[in-house]
Amino acid sequence: MVVESKAIISYIQIQKEDLGVFRFKPKEGELPQYKSGQFITLGANVPSENKVIRRAYSIASNPENRKYIELYIRWVRKPLPGRLTTVLFGSKEGDEISWVRATGAFTIEENKPNGEKDDRRIVCLGGGTGLAPFVSYARHLHTIGSKREIVILHGASYVDELGYRDELTQLEEESLDKGKDKWNFRYRATISRPDEWFNRTWNGPKGRVETFLQSKNGDMSPLEKLVGEKITKENTVFFICGWQGTIDGCLDVLTPRGFVTERNKRPDKSFEIKFESYG
Ligand SMILES: Cc1cc2nc3c(=O)[nH]c(=O)nc-3n(C[C@H](O)[C@H](O)[C@H](O)COP(=O)(O)OP(=O)(O)OC[C@H]3O[C@@H](n4cnc5c(N)ncnc54)[C@H](O)[C@@H]3O)c2cc1C
Ligand SMILES: NC(=O)c1ccc[n+]([C@@H]2O[C@H](COP(=O)([O-])OP(=O)(O)OC[C@H]3O[C@@H](n4cnc5c(N)ncnc54)[C@H](OP(=O)(O)O)[C@@H]3O)[C@@H](O)[C@H]2O)c1
Repeated sequence: MVVESKAIISYIQIQKEDLGVFRFKPKEGELPQYKSGQFITLGANVPSENKVIRRAYSIASNPENRKYIELYIRWVRKPLPGRLTTVLFGSKEGDEISWVRATGAFTIEENKPNGEKDDRRIVCLGGGTGLAPFVSYARHLHTIGSKREIVILHGASYVDELGYRDELTQLEEESLDKGKDKWNFRYRATISRPDEWFNRTWNGPKGRVETFLQSKNGDMSPLEKLVGEKITKENTVFFICGWQGTIDGCLDVLTPRGFVTERNKRPDKSFEIKFESYG
């Protein structure tokens, strides 16, 4: 049985007409507990169908933040208006919605399956709103004072879809200012439709997010150039979130190099890739 409770939409920041940051607080009682990387299920009555529709959303806030739960949401409009996102983008601060407890295994582990501390570099590749769980990782690791290296790579079609760019850039600046021994964080974004007029000001990396992993003529990949060494399964663990095509594009590079996903882990339970696909 689904145990639902009521939440209030406490803040809406529309980034562009079909993309926004939404915050939620419980109507009564405590904010639900969750782990960084988990998702929460929102539910709302959809008038045209006269029933409650529930959908999962990756949490962008960090578990130490006990004020609200933040989500990064795309309004699905094609081929037909998405049921829940149309309700959300038609709502206002103060409106009520229902939610079901947070869950999911797309979390960062402190230890490897053999019990050893996991000190490997964390590389996150997010397509579009697939950035959301990685914003949570960054906020969480920063808040707990983690010394682990984290690299966030974001791919979007348009420059105005680079959500959280200021916050992630500031986190990188803090890392450069304080030193990697205190806070070891990198953020890079890429634009997949660089030739469109709207993206004319973009002077950064071009292509979909998996381009960061690809190397030409035996050169280092853009990711390897960024971190300054060859990426191996001994030094790096990957987290990928986005369209299935994004996951596949990353696995096409990583699998031939011996990287293994959690879903296909080795007999000793070791793996180097977790992914969350949105179809
Ligand atoms: C673990 C997980 C985490 C997620 N995290 C996020 C997140 O962080 N941010 C985010 O934006 N999304 C996220 N999603 C996606 C989210 O759960 C929803 O799938 C998404 O918001 C669309 O929901 P909807 O009800 O608006 O669309 P739906 O009504 O479910 O529509 C889905 C698709 O079907 C089409 N459609 C609708 N009605 C019909 C019809 N009658 N006939 C044919 N086609 C139709 C729509 O055009 C759309 O393409 C996540 C999904 C999962 C599984
Ligand atoms: N965890 C989840 O399950 C989850 C999380 C977030 C969002 N979603 C859902 O995913 C849908 C779209 O997400 P979005 O709007 O955030 O993405 P988007 O903005 O449409 O795309 C983001 C990036 O992914 C690329 N891309 C698009 N289709 C691709 C494919 N088939 N293969 C590889 N790359 C592809 C885009 O490249 P181009 O410019 O070349 O198209 C762009 O660079 C929404 O329905 C949303 O609700 C699910």
